[in-house]
Amino acid sequence: MLSRLIWTLKALVRRDWKTAREAMISGMAPLFLHNKYLVLDDITNGLFSWKLPAGDYLEFGVYRGRSFISAYKLTTAKNLNMHYYAFDSFEGLPDFQDLDKVYENFESGQYACSQDEFSNILADAGVDQKQVTLVPGFFDVSLTSDTVKALPIKRAAIAWVDCDLYLSTVPVLEYLTPLLTTGSFLVFDDWYSFGGDPKAGELAATNDWLEKNPDISLLEYRKFGVSGMVFLVQRT
Ligand SMILES: C[S@@+](CC[C@H](N)C(=O)[O-])C[C@H]1O[C@@H](n2cnc3c(N)ncnc32)[C@H](O)[C@@H]1O
Repeated sequence: MLSRLIWTLKALVRRDWKTAREAMISGMAPLFLHNKYLVLDDITNGLFSWKLPAGDYLEFGVYRGRSFISAYKLTTAKNLNMHYYAFDSFEGLPDFQDLDKVYENFESGQYACSQDEFSNILADAGVDQKQVTLVPGFFDVSLTSDTVKALPIKRAAIAWVDCDLYLSTVPVLEYLTPLLTTGSFLVFDDWYSFGGDPKAGELAATNDWLEKNPDISLLEYRKFGVSGMVFLVQRT
């Protein structure tokens, strides 16, 4: 907090209003963001400072919008000029298949929140619905190459994957492949959810995906919360 104040004051002395605004918002982030999502402050500072190509915010697994709203608030406060895509079944977790079934952390139907309920939560949080697109459906059905063409996404600046299971993460990563470029932030909320088991969850799906796509590698950027991990995408 103190370092942000000093950063703000230094920028004000230099009359660098843009940096001063940025530093002030970062300083205030702990007041309006849940602790777990403070990692978004680092991510958005990166996007702000590195002047990467423009891109959108894509979240896969939105439930009642906690991370989605946090990302919306911070990125809009920093004028990052994004569109926000919420991908979800809006019926909770799908039926499990073998790989995820052996674990008992999750159950089918868990985290169900309807589209109407989700939209109302966003409205109550002051999210401008014109900046948001909901993409309903289970990922193995909703995330096809036709969906890629139908949505005007050129690049994912931040892809937030929070769908817990191996079978859910596989279609998400396949869908994301053409939308990720060097400097895209790829965030996994459940990276460690199975105790680091290389055969389960988001971690296993990512390892399989990297094997199939040798032009993509992931640079570790930040760990967050109990289970989260942020990567920067590198593409050759
Ligand atoms: C842990 S919750 C997401 C939490 C949310 N990001 C938050 O901030 O609270 C997981 C979400 O992923 C969705 N989900 C998981 N697997 C899915 C799949 N195969 N297709 C569509 N949605 C899925 C669930 O419906 C649920 O909303």
